[in-house]
Amino acid sequence: MLRPRRDDDSPINPLDHGIHRLPSHVAIIMDGNGRWARSRGNVRLKGHHEGAKAVRRALSFARRIGVRYLTLYAFSEQNWGRPPAEVEGLMSLLMKHIRSERDDLQDKGIRFRTIGNIDKMSPSIVTAIRDLEEHTRGNDELDLIVALSYGGREELVHATRQIAARVAAGELSPDAITAATISDNTYTAGIPDPDLMIRTSGEMRVSNFMLWQLAYTELYVTDIYWPDFNDEHFIKALHSYDSRQRRFGLTGDQAKR
Ligand code: IPE
Ligand code: IPE
Ligand code: MG
Repeated sequence: MLRPRRDDDSPINPLDHGIHRLPSHVAIIMDGNGRWARSRGNVRLKGHHEGAKAVRRALSFARRIGVRYLTLYAFSEQNWGRPPAEVEGLMSLLMKHIRSERDDLQDKGIRFRTIGNIDKMSPSIVTAIRDLEEHTRGNDELDLIVALSYGGREELVHATRQIAARVAAGELSPDAITAATISDNTYTAGIPDPDLMIRTSGEMRVSNFMLWQLAYTELYVTDIYWPDFNDEHFIKALHSYDSRQRRFGLTGDQAKR
């Protein structure tokens, strides 16, 4: 019997889309769920439900085209301040997807990781997250890093406390602290900084996202609301990235070498 074609899973050659240089790490601020829903006369939660479909789409696309790390800003530290019904809705959506995506992530070689103050979440979610992280630990096709209860400033406070504790214990001299020490104490220790950061819904701000890691990341903002973000929009962002010259503070001529 013929097996159904799994177009969904076939590799995408970046060159077929005129993309010569792919970012290894893409980070996305998935914004605009609420406005997407409102513009259709729906409640905000409907936007989050549609946003979850866009997550699946973006993850599948990233994997098929060969992105190695995909970081998604799903819930910020400051988002805890939203109306309780919205927070609860987001948490139950998260729980549902952690359960339903488990086998698929494993089949596709995707490693699930989280960054943020996860312990602020309910014990059942924490258990489900830790379990999925453990379950997919050996996968190396793509790392899916979900920022949950995440804030860039809070991350730097966390890193500073860890470093200060080592200094106080006499294990580390203040003079020995370098940028690498700080990186090693962030939630993203061992993960390369994002090459490209995409923000949907047109807002020109970073909203407390990866403040340390975005130092030399290329930024791309699209007016598209997150639930509408599709492969075509992703390709546009990758094209834009491809056209940039990353200079890291050097001159254009130096950067070419
Ligand atoms: C992003 O969409 C998702 C979360 C922050 C959880 P929003 O919910 O911020 O949508 P807008 O910005 O209000 O449209
Ligand atoms: C950033 O979006 C957080 C996430 C996408 C999870 P927000 O909607 O919370 O950011 P602001 O409030 O517009 O800056
Ligand atoms: Mg928003």
